[in-house]
This record gives sequence, C-alpha cells and structure tokens, in this order.
Amino acid sequence: MHFTKMKLASFVVVVYALGLAINGASGDIAFDDIYEVVWGGDHVSFLNERRDAQLWMDPAYGAGFGSKLNYGSGFIHMRIKLPDKDSAGVVTAFYLTSNSSKHDEVDFEFLGNREGKPITLQTNVFAQGIGDREQRTLLWFDPTADFHTYKILWNLYQIVFYVDEIPIRVYKNKVDIGVPYPNQPMSVQASLWNGEDWATDGGQTKTNWSNSPFIAHFQGFHFGACSLPKTAVDVEPCYQNISNYWWNRSKYWKLSGKEQRQFEEVRQKYLNYDYCDDKNRHPTLPPECQFNK
Ligand SMILES: *[C@@H]1O[C@H](CO)[C@@H](O)[C@H](O)[C@H]1NC(C)=O
Ligand SMILES: *[C@@H]1O[C@H](CO)[C@@H](O)[C@H](O)[C@H]1NC(C)=O
Ligand SMILES: *[C@@H]1O[C@H](CO)[C@@H](O)[C@H](O)[C@H]1NC(C)=O
Ligand SMILES: *[C@@H]1O[C@H](CO)[C@@H](O)[C@H](O)[C@H]1NC(C)=O
Repeated sequence: MHFTKMKLASFVVVVYALGLAINGASGDIAFDDIYEVVWGGDHVSFLNERRDAQLWMDPAYGAGFGSKLNYGSGFIHMRIKLPDKDSAGVVTAFYLTSNSSKHDEVDFEFLGNREGKPITLQTNVFAQGIGDREQRTLLWFDPTADFHTYKILWNLYQIVFYVDEIPIRVYKNKVDIGVPYPNQPMSVQASLWNGEDWATDGGQTKTNWSNSPFIAHFQGFHFGACSLPKTAVDVEPCYQNISNYWWNRSKYWKLSGKEQRQFEEVRQKYLNYDYCDDKNRHPTLPPECQFNK
C-alpha cells in the first residue's frame, strides 16, 4: 500500500510538471492529494490517516469538499456510506460541476428518508446551464449499511452513472443533432446538506433534528481523469494526447452487452421516475430521450 502511494505520488508530480495530471487508477490515497474542504470546515472529520472523510450535518449547517483541480474527462468515483437511521430531508451529494454562468453538472444526489423507508438516488445532467433531467432510482441494497462505489464515466462519447459495477444511467453525446453535452472543465464535489424543502416526499417529510448530527462517510479518493488548472475554460487540452486516457478508449464509447442487460434490468426494476416519461413537464420529449434507454 505504502509503495503504491509513493509510486503514485511521484508519477503525479512528474505529470503535473507537464501541466496535466493523470491520477493513478489504483492505490488508496489521502483526501488532501485530490480534495480540499470547501465549506463547513468544522463539520468535517478524518479517519485512517485521512483516507476516510466524514461530513456532519446539524441544525447549524452541513459541509462540503471539492477537488483542487478541474477535469476534462475521466472515470471518477467515490466510495460512500450514507447517514443511517432517520435521514429524511438529508441530501448527500457527489457530483461534477463547472464554475461558469451556463454551467455543466453531473449529479448523484441521495435523498434521505425515515428509518425503514428507502433512500432514493436522484441523478441529473446539466449542460450549458439547463438541467431538468432528473431520474430517480431505488437501490437494491441498504446504502447506509456499508460503503458502495458510485462512479461517473465522462468522455467525448457518453456519460454513464454506475452504482458499484452496474450502469444505472446513460447520457450519450448527441451534439451532432443538437443535444447539449457537458464540455466544460468540471471539479468533483461532495456535500451533505439540509434539503427538507424538497428532498423527501416532495418536501412534506421534514428533517428530524433529534437524530442529528447526520454523518456521511467518504473514501476511495483516487480516480482516473484528465486534469486542468482551475483557470482553464476549455477541455481541449484533454483531447490532445489521448493515448494516456484509458477511459477514452473504444471500450468506453458505449455499454458492453453485459452492461446493457444490467442497465435495462435496473431501469425495469428500480427506476421510479424518469423525466423522459414525464409528459406533464415535457409535452414534447427532450431530443436525447430516445437515445438513453
Ligand atoms: C469560480 O470562478 C470565479 C471567477 O470566475 C473565481 O473567483 C472563483 O474562485 C471560482 N471558484 C472555484 C470554486 O473555483
Ligand atoms: C424524531 O426522532 C425521535 C428520536 O428518534 C423520535 O422519538 C420521534 O418520534 C421522531 N419524530 C418524527 C416526526 O418522526
Ligand atoms: C503523449 O503521451 C505519450 C505516451 O504516454 C508520451 O510519450 C508523450 O510524451 C506525451 N506527449 C505530451 C506532449 O504529453
Ligand atoms: C479520444 O477522444 C478524441 C476526441 O476528443 C477522439 O478524437 C479520439 O478518437 C479518442 N480516442 C480514443 C482512443 O478513444
């Protein structure tokens, strides 16, 4: 473990010197190698030589952390264990976002619930400032009992949301027919906050503060991505030397046959809301809907 970390550290340093960094695909690394606390610093704690981070939420506030760099493509993931017991109103988020006025964003949002009721995983994709692409999925396990890996594949061809190894959502790049696609540098963010206005039963079920503090656990901070300085406004440098970027290989251009079957099964059994099926909100189906099923 120690050896891997050393190797990784020297590799990252070398590539930083070229102005681009590729974070190693293996090895457990400390929070500070990638992330920094963004808000609620006194509601963040660390374990295991800072290889585990915990965000706390109480009536005063929650907390959030974000990557020090922005990225232009990658296969980004995080191991998360959600707040247990009665977490109605509590939102745990793991997402990519650009820092721009017409922003791009790719979201995992876990919507807490009363004890014994299922936690909903809401996903969304914003491109050029427009979101409204919510999907909601129930999980086939208890996400508060243990860590699970939540992943976002982002390359020029598709965005795929994975829960462990299972693809639960696909958003294909159909820019050629006018579908907006995230193409701005994005940072990786995680946060814990009070969403009782909307998160549980449309906001009718409120946070029960007698159970606070709520604690979300994060680990597994390494991931593969093409990084850019915070000031970069264009992802283009990430496409100049593509041989380095394994998540850009043809294997990652579309789901494999096995993944496609898993994806269809999850949609059939666990999807409980899809903006593409919401005719009240979208009398005319958004153009991407026909491609992402
Ligand atoms: C976002 O961009 C603004 C300038 O446009 C900058 O002042 C701010 O620090 C940036 N925030 C982050 C989190 O990078
Ligand atoms: C809030 O939690 C407390 C302690 O677990 C419990 O006694 C109370 O019934 C809960 N209130 C609601 C509205 O669920
Ligand atoms: C591009 O990648 C190749 C293979 O890893 C490497 O040999 C070369 O130095 C890289 N070029 C630049 C400009 O980073
Ligand atoms: C990687 O992405 C670039 C576009 O950004 C594309 O031209 C190239 O074919 C891709 N390469 C591989 C190996 O996937």
